[in-house]
Amino acid sequence: SVLEMEVEQINKGNYEHYMQKEIHEQPESLTTTMRGRLIHRGSNKSKSVLLGGLKDHLKTIRRSRRILFIGCGTSYNAALAARPILEELSGVPVTMEIASDLLDREGPIYREDTAVFVSQSGETADTLLALQYALDNGALCVGITNTVGSAIARNTHCGVHINAGAEIGVASTKAYTSQIVVMVMLALAIGGDTISNQARREAIIDGLFDLPNKVREVLKLDQEMKDLAKQLIAEQSLLVFGRGYNYATALEGALKVKEVALMHSEGMLAGEMKHGPLALVDENLPIAVVATRDACFSKQQSVIQQLNARRGRLIVMCSKGDAASVCPNESCRVIEVPQVEDCLQPVINVVPLQLLAYHLTVLRGHNVDQPRNLAKSVTTQ
Ligand code: G6P
Repeated sequence: SVLEMEVEQINKGNYEHYMQKEIHEQPESLTTTMRGRLIHRGSNKSKSVLLGGLKDHLKTIRRSRRILFIGCGTSYNAALAARPILEELSGVPVTMEIASDLLDREGPIYREDTAVFVSQSGETADTLLALQYALDNGALCVGITNTVGSAIARNTHCGVHINAGAEIGVASTKAYTSQIVVMVMLALAIGGDTISNQARREAIIDGLFDLPNKVREVLKLDQEMKDLAKQLIAEQSLLVFGRGYNYATALEGALKVKEVALMHSEGMLAGEMKHGPLALVDENLPIAVVATRDACFSKQQSVIQQLNARRGRLIVMCSKGDAASVCPNESCRVIEVPQVEDCLQPVINVVPLQLLAYHLTVLRGHNVDQPRNLAKSVTTQ
């Protein structure tokens, strides 16, 4: 009805689509996610993390013999982005499970495991069934959802709400970045304060405080991403290479492009490039490489060189100021992003790819907020 359409326009504010609005409100949604959870503690006012819904279970989680992350789609990718910092700070082995695959295999889960269920809606059938399976096997079950009172929030032993606010666009954007931030806070909470990791912890917490500003900065790439989308509008396919913290960025960037722009796109582990994907490289196929500064930077530089040697059509994402050192030729496109603490970099790096997917979709004339064949919350198996 006309009334419904008007209400919708009010909800979208000055934006044309929910996805666009949700991409641009990430500085605010991230602020809400962190509100009240980063604190100064003790006589020396050391910086710390407080996750109320977990505090009675932290000891058990620390003592578990494994932490499993379980989710689908974007929620799985968010967990993948947080995995390295969780391994680093907790010292507990962390494994990843796509919910349906865990169920297909009936993979082993034990009483000594902590199973973390990541779901924006808290209602995804596959994730919910995996939760039931983990409960039956006696694991401690933790929920990370955006929906208070959802099935996953109700049926887990404990958990954290990401507080990103309602997400309407079928393609998840602001929930993804808030999920990553919650899982980084989870890593800090599990890790606890030790002398040896104090500097690292403080750097991450300072980075969290400043993250909304950095997201505001990277959102200024909007027009640049629209221009890039114009160049890619008629392409069949886009490859995205990442590694380390940004393997997840590659998967999530490619997922956005295929979900909404209806363009084939694959996120790939750069370390696997020479084991197959290299055969696809020619002067036509666009290839994005995430090469921001972190411990993997020099490896990504050599990936870029190998792609360049095969005349690959390169789009390189790098840290501000690095354009000249990462670009091997004149025709290489660069996306320069602000540098943040390595474990928070996936939050920054996904934003240009969200914008790219958004603009590609609009330019190609597809439905942004309700892509064909997809649903916001898949409640059937
Ligand atoms: C559907 C949605 C995706 C989402 C996935 C998991 O496939 O289209 O955007 O990432 O479900 O949803 P959840 O609510 O569990 O995070």
